[in-house]
Formats: sequence, C-alpha cells, structure tokens
Amino acid sequence: MAIEHQIQQAVALMKASERLVVLTGAGVSKESGVPTFRDALDGLWAQYDPTRLATPQAFAATPKLVWDFYEYRRQIMRPALPNPAHRALAQLERRFPEMQIITQNVDDLHEQAGSTRIIRLHGNINANKCSKDCQGDPTNVVVADVDSQQQRDVPRCPHCGSYVRPDVVWFGEMLSVELLDAAKIASATADLMLVIGTSGVVIPAADMPHITRRAGGKVIEINPIESNITPIADLWLCGAAGDILPRIVAALADA
Ligand code: OAD
Ligand code: ZN
Repeated sequence: MAIEHQIQQAVALMKASERLVVLTGAGVSKESGVPTFRDALDGLWAQYDPTRLATPQAFAATPKLVWDFYEYRRQIMRPALPNPAHRALAQLERRFPEMQIITQNVDDLHEQAGSTRIIRLHGNINANKCSKDCQGDPTNVVVADVDSQQQRDVPRCPHCGSYVRPDVVWFGEMLSVELLDAAKIASATADLMLVIGTSGVVIPAADMPHITRRAGGKVIEINPIESNITPIADLWLCGAAGDILPRIVAALADA
C-alpha cells in the first residue's frame, strides 16, 4: 500500500482520536545523528557491548569505564538537534493538548523541540546522581563541565562521597514506579497510540502498545523496519519518522 495512502489512513485515525499518546524510541533521534541503542559503536567503544556496560554490576566493578562510556555518549549527543520528527510531535501538542510522549530515549531532543508533556521512562543522560541516592531518589548531583580527559576519577557525591552516576535506567534496574504508572495510565486511557522508532525489545516500555489495544485503542507504528510492535499495529507506516511525521501533521492541519 503506497505510503501516501497510509498517511491518509493515519490522518483519518488521528482526526477521530480524542486521547492520543505517543511512544518513542531511539529511532526518533536517529535523524538527529544520535545512534540508536543497538547501532554499532565506533572507535574505542566498538569493542564493548553497550548492554554489558549499562548495568549496575559494570559500574560497581569498573566505575571509570562506565562513567567514560556515558561521557562518550554525552559527547556524541551534545551537537544533536531536534529533527523534523521531534518538531512534528511538538506541533501535534497544539492539536492534542492532553497528548503525552512516553519516551525510552535519554536525550532531551523532545524538550528541545518544544514538547512539554514527556514521561522519560529511562532517565536523562545529561543528569547525574549519587549512586547511593543518599538524599532520596534521585539525589541529583551537578557535575562541573570538566572535560572527561582532565577528570582524574569518577566524580564523588558531595553529601556522602559515593561515586556519581548518570541518571539513567540500567539493564536489570527497576523503573521509577511513578513514571511507570503514569505511562500505563496514559496508555490505558488513550484511544490511539503512535509508536515511533522502537524495536519493541525492552519491557516494560514495549508493553504500552499492548495496554492501549487491550483498552480498545488503536496503534499506529512508524518504523522503516518491522519491530516487535508491528504484529499488533493497526497501521504500520514503513519509513523514517523525520519524513513521515511532518507529512501526517501537515495533512492533519489541512483536515
Ligand atoms: P533500538 O535501537 O532497539 O531500536 C531503534 C528502532 O528505531 C529500530 O526498530 C529501527 O528500525 C528504528 N529506526 C531507525 N531509524 C529510524 C527512523 N529514521 N525513523 C523511525 N524509526 C527508525 O532502540 P529502542 O527501541 O529505543 O534501554 O531501545 C529501547 C531501549 O533499549 C533503550 O531505551 C535502551 C535499550 O536497552 C535502556 O537503556 C534501559
Ligand atoms: Zn550521596
């Protein structure tokens, strides 16, 4: 089915929607130059498996290696700017003021694009916290912008002296109950979910489209490759978010 026809179908579903929710993954930031989580890393980091570095065990065993891995990812993300997909989603908020974006991404490109109602399931790579959350969860710690080369060691919490770590969810860690509840409620009360740029591999984020469907809502997916979500999508638009989303938003504006 030609993509143009599918865009018209998506527009029809969105015109009929009163409660839209969006789920985004790394694919929505890909056109901003941010590698997806499963993209091969380059240079020094090519030899590492990210899923083995993004764990509490790895941080406990080799804090400096994990800290430097995140400094590397922050360096890559720093120049990234919102792409047309982020901007189209920010525009959608004007038509759907209640719309929430549930994101698995740890970059801040949705915020930079102007989206305001964001549920960050996996945290924020630009924030740091005490690894013991000694003043409560999270005990955020501002780390001076010291170039990691000069940084002798992993920064220490000013309150308790424990290592500081990125404020992101690691493999094997629980998500914040509040955030997860907010995402589940948003998914269960939506009559339509837009799923953009996720492989649907990681739970509980990947459960959200199932929650929407079980509650009688519909699911539209935008992804150039079939994902774990595709089999339950009412409509799969096979293509790049930065191309498809602006076309949907433009067609909606005319509708
Ligand atoms: P993945 O890297 O698993 O999947 C990215 C998805 O984006 C893939 O399905 C791609 O086909 C799709 N994609 C690539 N380019 C795209 C584009 N231009 N437009 C639309 N889609 C595109 O990333 P996630 O599914 O987000 O968790 O991964 C989820 C979680 O896995 C991450 O948040 C991370 C990782 O474990 C934690 O760090 C806890
Ligand atoms: Zn502390």
